[in-house]
Amino acid sequence: METIRDFNFGGFPCRAALYSPQELYPAETSLFVGDRNTATLVSRPSGSAEVILEPGEKAKQWPAVDTILKKAMDLGMARDSLICGAGGGVVTDMTAFAGSLYMRGCRVVLIPTSLLAMVDAALGGKTGIDAGVYKNMIGSFYPAEEVRICPELLQDLPEKEYWNGMGEVFKTAMIGDQELMEILVRDRNRVKAREPELLGEIIRRCILVKGSLVEEDLREKGRRAFLNLGHTFGHALEAASGLDWSHGAAVIWGTAKALDAAVAMGLADAAWAESLKKLFLDYGYELKATVAPEAMLEAMKMDKKKKGGRLRYIIPAGPQDIRIEYLEPEFVLEILKA
Ligand code: GLY
Repeated sequence: METIRDFNFGGFPCRAALYSPQELYPAETSLFVGDRNTATLVSRPSGSAEVILEPGEKAKQWPAVDTILKKAMDLGMARDSLICGAGGGVVTDMTAFAGSLYMRGCRVVLIPTSLLAMVDAALGGKTGIDAGVYKNMIGSFYPAEEVRICPELLQDLPEKEYWNGMGEVFKTAMIGDQELMEILVRDRNRVKAREPELLGEIIRRCILVKGSLVEEDLREKGRRAFLNLGHTFGHALEAASGLDWSHGAAVIWGTAKALDAAVAMGLADAAWAESLKKLFLDYGYELKATVAPEAMLEAMKMDKKKKGGRLRYIIPAGPQDIRIEYLEPEFVLEILKA
């Protein structure tokens, strides 16, 4: 085990650490939660209590949480008992949500098994489920006491899933780690080859950036919103395309749109913005969407209504220079059409 850092997220201590596959499972676990794909990745003692969920976003609904809570009650778990959730963001969000509810909050350890969950979803205390089609509508802020990361698990991750997570890596580099950005520019072949040592370094750096933002702003009243770079545009594409795009690919597309907006607003240098878009293309990301711009604008407006406020955009004005801006729909439509 190698500690990346011990954080304090609004009074919740949280350790992020790297583990080998053999060490991953916390010995004091009372209840293990995984899905059919991820449960096999974590070896655990035979006969250990577990809930194995259906994989995928469709399962991220209340019945899954109900199953976890009922199992915890059947086992007679106490408040100091430990639930361990292993999986991608869907499993880690749901496990931590159930943990936040059980006896008003029991111990939770998370083992992210996808790159996206390692660098983003599992750290920082956002928990929850979808309500019908509305993503993450029900939830809580409840950081796990530990996030156990095993980069070796990434070697078998499907290609699409790997690049999905890498989308969040680019985002994290742009908002908080210029050296990581330089690594991504310089070491493209090593990134594409999933070189283990490099992946460990990338994950460590992403955890440090995200953890610092969450320490400062657990409930997203300010700078934590930087983590949403590319997400307002990206979510609209995901919604309007009927979820044809993976989240990370949509975030990269959305980041390219945010760069276009920054240049059009006179905030960012056009050559810098173009160099980043070229980098995304070189990594194989798609920067053209065939979805109607009007449909994407509608999706953003729905999102705005759902959140009950003005629509915020995270705008990259330069390397490590991120702004929060409120944009007019007419301007957003022009950017979507470009
Ligand atoms: N995934 C963005 C955040 O945790 O704030």
